Amino acid sequence: MAEPFKNAPPAPENKGEMTAQNIAAALAGESQASQKYLAFADVADAEGYPNVARLFRGVAFAESTHARNHLSVLGGIGTTTENLKAAWGGETFEITEMYPAYDAVAKLQENKSAQTSIRYALTAEKDHQGIYDSTLKGVEGKADLGAGAVRVCPICGHTVIGDAPDECPVCGTAGAHFKEF
Ligand SMILES: [Fe+2]
Ligand SMILES: [Fe+2]
Repeated sequence: MAEPFKNAPPAPENKGEMTAQNIAAALAGESQASQKYLAFADVADAEGYPNVARLFRGVAFAESTHARNHLSVLGGIGTTTENLKAAWGGETFEITEMYPAYDAVAKLQENKSAQTSIRYALTAEKDHQGIYDSTLKGVEGKADLGAGAVRVCPICGHTVIGDAPDECPVCGTAGAHFKEF
């Protein structure tokens, strides 16, 4: 009888600085390709090519498995406690350093669209930082997050646990359009 399917990426292996740099670059590239293909799929749907959309979504999933495998080789996937700490750290860096610096440059260069997309991201990262922080406290005591839905604004990424607001406080999108997880 065949072994039961186990969804396990290649194990971490810390051997070779240049290989680590290469795999990190490949992780960035595959992550971007996956996101691009999801955006391209939406365009294909809107233009009346549902099967092209399906192709883009399928290949996006393939690229996402490549990204996950590279991340695993780099040792970037831990226990849920470790992962929540890493996720909190990433959000915190984006809030305190990355996006404020990027926003300053976008203002200097008068790029209004970049300022909007930076504001959407920076604001949502604050939601994520807070949610990860409280979730980590629970998981450190072996408690799962509550059963309330995670709802996300499809335009700006504003993230809430539980009911959506009538209107997104960041971008004004109606709460009925929030995506539920
Ligand atoms: Fe985030
Ligand atoms: Fe929003």
